[in-house]
Amino acid sequence: MSKGERDCCSGVRLEAITAEVVTQLAKYEATSTSWPWGEAKMLQSLSSEHHCYVLVEDKAIGYCVLLLIDEVLEILNFVIFSEFQGRGYGRLLVDKIKAVARDLGASMLWLEVRADNHRARKVYLSAEFSETGIRKNYYPNLTGSHTKSPQDAVLMQCALEISS
Ligand SMILES: CC(C)(COP(=O)(O)OP(=O)(O)OC[C@H]1O[C@@H](n2cnc3c(N)ncnc32)[C@H](O)[C@@H]1OP(=O)(O)O)[C@@H](O)C(=O)NCCC(=O)NCCS
Repeated sequence: MSKGERDCCSGVRLEAITAEVVTQLAKYEATSTSWPWGEAKMLQSLSSEHHCYVLVEDKAIGYCVLLLIDEVLEILNFVIFSEFQGRGYGRLLVDKIKAVARDLGASMLWLEVRADNHRARKVYLSAEFSETGIRKNYYPNLTGSHTKSPQDAVLMQCALEISS
């Protein structure tokens, strides 16, 4: 699908995640990423100071978990569910996160992404993030091992213009 054909539209909104929808979100997530957080971690986030949002149109499209520390809003998790991938929703979710960041008074967005996640890196770069560093061997491999084939993390950040 070309950029012009993208079906993201203004009816897409962010809603706060509630405990009632976590089981369903975790089911969608399980088939959307090799690194799902799962229900327990989502519930943990809900009961902490994390900001948890689902991207919704007629149904759930994806979700994100954010953490505000001072003026930096960190993206802790970011997933577009598989049936919606490749349609521009990733970029839309970043733009909506930027709006949340401004509402929260943040001046910077920050995240870490697996070095081999070229798709995610492209989405963030297109949304004016810069790659600012590498954490060597930061992520475990698919079996959970840090000693065999761990993955580097790329640090990315995006300064936000503060509207007066
Ligand atoms: C990464 C993710 C969020 C991207 O969202 P998305 O809505 O699927 O994004 P798109 O498919 O529209 O792709 C965005 C761009 O990446 C490009 N892209 C797709 N596959 C790619 C690949 N393998 N390598 C490089 N670029 C790729 C697309 O062409 C598109 O570029 P364009 O805007 O110039 O057309 C989504 O795929 C996802 O949730 N993946 C699983 C979880 C994950 O990796 N989360 C990120 C954690 S940091």
